[in-house]
Amino acid sequence: MNYFHYVENELWCEEVPVTNIAEEVGTPFYLYSHRTLDRHFNVFDEAFADVPHIICFSSKANSNIAILRVIIKKGGGMDIVSGGELYRALLAGVDPKKVVYSGVGKREDEIRFAIENEILMFNVESSQELEIINFCAGKMNKRARISLRVNPDVDSKTHSYISTGLKENKFGINIHNAFDEYHQAKKLEHIDIIGIDCHIGSQITKVSPFLDALGRLTNLINLLREDDIDIQYLDLGGGLGITYDEENPPHPTEYAEAIISRAKGINCTFIFEPGRVIMGNAGILVSRVLYTKSNADKNFIIVDAGMNDLIRPSLYNSYHQIQAVIQKERGLFSADVVGPICESGDFLAKNRVVPRFERGDLLAVMSAGAYSFSMSSNYNSRPRVAEVLVKDDQYYVIKRRETYEDIVRGEDIPGFLQE
Ligand code: LLP
Repeated sequence: MNYFHYVENELWCEEVPVTNIAEEVGTPFYLYSHRTLDRHFNVFDEAFADVPHIICFSSKANSNIAILRVIIKKGGGMDIVSGGELYRALLAGVDPKKVVYSGVGKREDEIRFAIENEILMFNVESSQELEIINFCAGKMNKRARISLRVNPDVDSKTHSYISTGLKENKFGINIHNAFDEYHQAKKLEHIDIIGIDCHIGSQITKVSPFLDALGRLTNLINLLREDDIDIQYLDLGGGLGITYDEENPPHPTEYAEAIISRAKGINCTFIFEPGRVIMGNAGILVSRVLYTKSNADKNFIIVDAGMNDLIRPSLYNSYHQIQAVIQKERGLFSADVVGPICESGDFLAKNRVVPRFERGDLLAVMSAGAYSFSMSSNYNSRPRVAEVLVKDDQYYVIKRRETYEDIVRGEDIPGFLQE
């Protein structure tokens, strides 16, 4: 459920008409609903109320510091994958004791930054990484808390680009080697083993892959405990899917009940790293129709947002609903909704039945709160768009639209080229 809704024939976000924001902020822009975000966090949090848990929002899904701040104020922590994400999380006021750090390619400077800030734990993805964390902690006269990110080899049945828990994926430590790795870790002087972790993929629409992974992890926890390696935190990653089109993913309550019952007696604090399920349907992308045209037997709606603003359709062939901001009685037709980028792969929707849009109309690309602005770029030297947060009857620009100066910031013409 979200708070983008029609009042008569006009799309509103909470108590604000989308058209008003478009007129004042210009297009395109991302629009987030605070009430929706708040609700999604609460639903997830309450689903796990009966067990000790920390919700570490996956900040790669939406890394705007205002969004992170909302989650932090609600008691959430952060799942980070880079020094940049740690920087953002700290700026937003995160409690470092609620930060978990995943990723196969952590650099030494990033590791030191995280140790310095005493994050809860590193989710370690290789034996070399473990050595380096130990080395850095030693040099800094500190200890580093870790879990091993185990690759449980389960098929999450999602798009191959966003599946991470199969043994052929680059992520984690093969479950068959994990036991030995823990023993290696135990020997390291500056390492405290506190947890176990896995993340099997994203946009998962069934409970069973999570339960398979959980079963494998709990077996391992029991084996480790017999060997005096005490696992206090069980991090199940993120991955719960949402409805973009007609998917029917489990409700967070169903997901939680299944997990809690499968993990009965395990006596760990759970960590979850949800991203999409919290933010995906809490945001939309608002764009204006620049032109329409027909070639041979195809209709094109050319809008002012492109693949640099929202790459998911081009990259994964993802479906995002397209809605008119003001519904008019013009009927429907089949068209491609495309952006201004010079690539045929620049589309927001293909062969889609949509309202007969005309030049000047506003349209909303739905479910664009996660992996949307955070994956945007300046390709074709397009300034990145504004981000706006609505709360009740007010809206706030939480990232101003970039200027041309912004897009060349840091570039330099060397002296020998200056005459
Ligand atoms: N934890 C880790 C270690 C992750 O790698 C991810 C996502 C998450 C948590 C959050 O997963 P979520 O709950 O959002 O499914 N760009 C793709 C999604 C890539 C996901 C990468 N990892 C997309 O637009 O669909």
